[in-house]
Amino acid sequence: MQTRITEMLGIQHPIVQGGMQWVGLAELAAAVSNAGGLGILTGLTQPSPEDLVKEIARCREMTDKPFAVNLTILPTIKPVPYEEYARAIVDSGIKIVETAGRNPEPFLPLFKGAGVTVIHKCTSIRHSLKAERIGCDMVSVDGFECAGHPGEDDVTNMILLPLAARRLKIPFLASGGFGDGRGLAAALAMGADGINMGTRFMVTREAPIHEKVKQKMVDASELDTSLIYRSLRNTARVFKNSIAQQVLEIEAQPGDTKFEDIQSLVQGVKGRELFEGGDLDKGIWSAGMVVGLIDDIPTCEELITRIVAEAEQIISERLARMVSA
Ligand SMILES: Cc1cc2nc3c(=O)[nH]c(=O)nc-3n(C[C@H](O)[C@H](O)[C@H](O)COP(=O)(O)O)c2cc1C
Repeated sequence: MQTRITEMLGIQHPIVQGGMQWVGLAELAAAVSNAGGLGILTGLTQPSPEDLVKEIARCREMTDKPFAVNLTILPTIKPVPYEEYARAIVDSGIKIVETAGRNPEPFLPLFKGAGVTVIHKCTSIRHSLKAERIGCDMVSVDGFECAGHPGEDDVTNMILLPLAARRLKIPFLASGGFGDGRGLAAALAMGADGINMGTRFMVTREAPIHEKVKQKMVDASELDTSLIYRSLRNTARVFKNSIAQQVLEIEAQPGDTKFEDIQSLVQGVKGRELFEGGDLDKGIWSAGMVVGLIDDIPTCEELITRIVAEAEQIISERLARMVSA
């Protein structure tokens, strides 16, 4: 399959693994890139810009294919030296960056000056158009289904993707809710140039998280995610566990919720410990509605090969038959 995105990113298949806090380590990014997709290291998973430089070097030892780094610009408990992370990315010779969260404009002169292709992840058409206007090379359009931060508009990909196709000139990835070949074929049909997946790549053999977390997601249905932080207007879609439930109960109490009211439950370090130790109620973890479509733990190679083969078959046989009569 060739699309504007496979050409611009120099990859074989139009499948990208989105940045994932605590999950986007070299093992996963390299496995995705080796399988012909685009693997992405998560910048802020590394405790310092120096550690990110080392992680990039470690990933290079595992793959000679292109891979990217995600830079997520979001409110954090501890201040983050974003400029230094951005410089570490550029100085390491990375040529593709996924930005997300806030407007990436302050970082574009640095990235563009170094010949970096910038993919900005957006949850709305207005933000996608802004990304195009300020000079991003492509966007990932994250629908309401997605894991992590879907924004506050609650528009699903069935609407966002055709709108993006009508309005954007730059290529875009469909993100949120994708996990199989049907999804890839549908994304391409709706005008996207490829798909970006988070949750589906968490449930692969190479994802560096505890087997219990992967198995829990295999056993889950499409109803097993919760939207927390709605009251803070910083909505996040996470796996429905007892901690997410407690957060929702606090948010439902009368009066304004303050982040301090829930901070101890949702600390990032607890999420990391959950992934490492497999205690499923240690903290919260991002997960998308696509958990309902996940029923195995393949290697990244098996997953990507299967998705592409299934999509190709749908396009060249099922859909072709419908129009050839
Ligand atoms: C565990 C996890 C952590 C994530 N962390 C980040 C992050 O740090 N930065 C970011 O831009 N997106 C993050 N995401 C979102 C993904 O990059 C991607 O946009 C999203 O998962 C797409 O939806 P899907 O899960 O339905 O495929 C995360 C997703 C998951 C599942």
